[in-house]
Amino acid sequence: MQCSIAKITLSLHLPNFKPFKMKLFLSSFAVLVALGVAQGASIPKNSIQLKNIEVLDGEGKYILGWEINEAGDEIVFEVEAETLGWVGFGISPQGGMTGADIFIGGVLSDGSTYAQDRFGIGRTEPKVDDHSDWRLLEAMELPSMGKTILKFSRLLDTCDDEDYLIGNDTNRLIWAMGDADIIRYHGTTRRGTKSTNLIHADLPELDLDTVQTWPMILDMEMPTVDTSYWCSFHRGPVLSAKHHVVGFNAVLPSAEALQHTHHSILYNCFLPAGSNETLEEVLGNYTVDKGHVGGDCYDPDTILPISYCIMGTFYVWAKGGKTLVFPEDAGYPIGDLPGQQFYMMEIHYDNPDMIEGLKFETGVEFYYTDELRPQEAGIMILGHEVDLSTTVPPNTPSYKDVGHCGSECTNMFPENGINVFNSLLHSHLSGRKMKARHFRGNVELPWLDYDDHYDFDYQQNKPLMTHVNVQRGDHITVECEYDSVWKNGEIVLGGLSTREEMCEDIVWYYPKINVELCTSGYDIDAHIREFGVTAYTETMTPMLRKYYIDAPENLQGDFFDSITYKFNWTEEFRTEYTNRRMYGIHTGACGIRDEVVHYDITYPESFIEYVPPNQCQA
Ligand SMILES: *[C@@H]1O[C@H](CO)[C@@H](O)[C@H](O)[C@H]1NC(C)=O
Ligand SMILES: *[C@@H]1O[C@H](CO)[C@@H](O)[C@H](O)[C@H]1NC(C)=O
Ligand SMILES: *[C@@H]1O[C@H](CO)[C@@H](O)[C@H](O)[C@H]1NC(C)=O
Ligand SMILES: *[C@@H]1O[C@H](CO)[C@@H](O)[C@H](O)[C@H]1NC(C)=O
Repeated sequence: MQCSIAKITLSLHLPNFKPFKMKLFLSSFAVLVALGVAQGASIPKNSIQLKNIEVLDGEGKYILGWEINEAGDEIVFEVEAETLGWVGFGISPQGGMTGADIFIGGVLSDGSTYAQDRFGIGRTEPKVDDHSDWRLLEAMELPSMGKTILKFSRLLDTCDDEDYLIGNDTNRLIWAMGDADIIRYHGTTRRGTKSTNLIHADLPELDLDTVQTWPMILDMEMPTVDTSYWCSFHRGPVLSAKHHVVGFNAVLPSAEALQHTHHSILYNCFLPAGSNETLEEVLGNYTVDKGHVGGDCYDPDTILPISYCIMGTFYVWAKGGKTLVFPEDAGYPIGDLPGQQFYMMEIHYDNPDMIEGLKFETGVEFYYTDELRPQEAGIMILGHEVDLSTTVPPNTPSYKDVGHCGSECTNMFPENGINVFNSLLHSHLSGRKMKARHFRGNVELPWLDYDDHYDFDYQQNKPLMTHVNVQRGDHITVECEYDSVWKNGEIVLGGLSTREEMCEDIVWYYPKINVELCTSGYDIDAHIREFGVTAYTETMTPMLRKYYIDAPENLQGDFFDSITYKFNWTEEFRTEYTNRRMYGIHTGACGIRDEVVHYDITYPESFIEYVPPNQCQA
């Protein structure tokens, strides 16, 4: 993802063309727009009356509707499922059966209804719960259509320690249906899982007829490497004056695009201050419409003009994400410099099976208007640096990494601070929980955002329920909890691959300021030496820096291999190590365009922790 915007330093070389035949860009415009919209999941015809609807099976055989009651304490569900047998629905802490809160119901052939509250205890028939939290409201069968419709409700917080608390973070839903009314978990069961936000701020409406759409698509063969970050250059609209971008979407027109595109980042390209060149001169020959597909973003010998764009993060989409629509009073300015606009797109292709010759289209689009909005929006990256100081110990179910944004950076905010309206929490496959904490002085305020059920496959540009005012001098800490058990004894390093880790909160806010990055990391040299290393070598690779341990002899070798297989992670070391990484002094980075200011930072001193209100104690 962002994946270390500030880290790429590249020199410019003369252009070097690879002739490439491109699909017609402009004539496929209309088709791409249609696909981009369709990507927001079309809902098949159904009878559900509730406000929110989602197709859980992807085919329309299991459709879920839901709505929160006016008092805000109860949620009503309605399921339309293609079966005359039992229908099951549940909410699960990790996406599996274990610990899931499950409701099963149906209609018998004599017309009578049944419903049960169950609790998942693994990949077996869930046991019947002692006390019932779910309430069956309605059940009916439509034999001619082969469908069952169930309406049922549950309190968001049942005040029972054993029940799942439905919060406004990711909810991992599980669903199942049987062919008969006898509940069996083998043979005829159809089932699946899908993540969503049951409680969410309403997406502001955007009428696509009132704005213009600009798609940027790359159509090429996916590189035959495990992880590649591919940079391509695109012409934006030609503008005679400033416009506002008011929304974004990913354009993933095929199953291949959906599967292998792990993130895309759009960057705005600028000329350095005082330049006597034009963007056309420096970028014009590299654009996709001129037949140039771009190249590896991290190739140190690149000839691509990446340096003009890399500081202009504009839009981040990550796997599972949906449309991003700005609040009605905010827009991101483009065309400050009138004329032809240029953008760079970074695509993270994930190809762990090293598939060869797979060609598909992937990209993003933005929606823009000449009706300027009162507020100008900006994007900022918070969290931990993407580097080696993220080292998750082996076989650890829960390890916490933190990244600070301190007052040294927020002091540059405007007098009335900034207002955050959207948040994208980002970590990779080991990420389990994330939280962006907000401090003013030594008092912790409500979290900016959190996710106790982080799902790598469901990353959202989440509109915040209340816009958060971050003032001058405030402090924000992003905390990420990782689980390395699935790596079978291996450590997990910070890095760009999905099997390595990141810890970021990418936020949209207004009014726009020049600060684009506010992160921190533990000092790399101190980090390496704490493992008892006395000598090491650092080399630049196309991706990130690599470290090789030279001494002592018993740890000699590549850092990852040695610290995984040769280093003795004793309990005592783990405890001290974990504490130091979390509470020790970090080096903060405050990034303003092409300049990064460094400072020392840790948590605010003896702060008063924020405790979310608990209705149950009342
Ligand atoms: C642009 O500026 C560079 C130095 O910054 C100078 O060498 C070059 O001649 C200038 N080009 C033009 C067309 O003025
Ligand atoms: C771009 O390509 C054209 C045609 O090949 C060439 O004349 C021009 O010098 C190139 N521009 C740059 C900046 O390399
Ligand atoms: C979740 O809800 C809490 C209060 O209920 C609120 O403070 C927080 O901003 C919400 N989170 C998001 C992402 O909207
Ligand atoms: C690791 O250290 C512990 C505690 O000092 C010791 O008991 C154990 O044998 C060591 N393991 C290895 C593989 O050296």
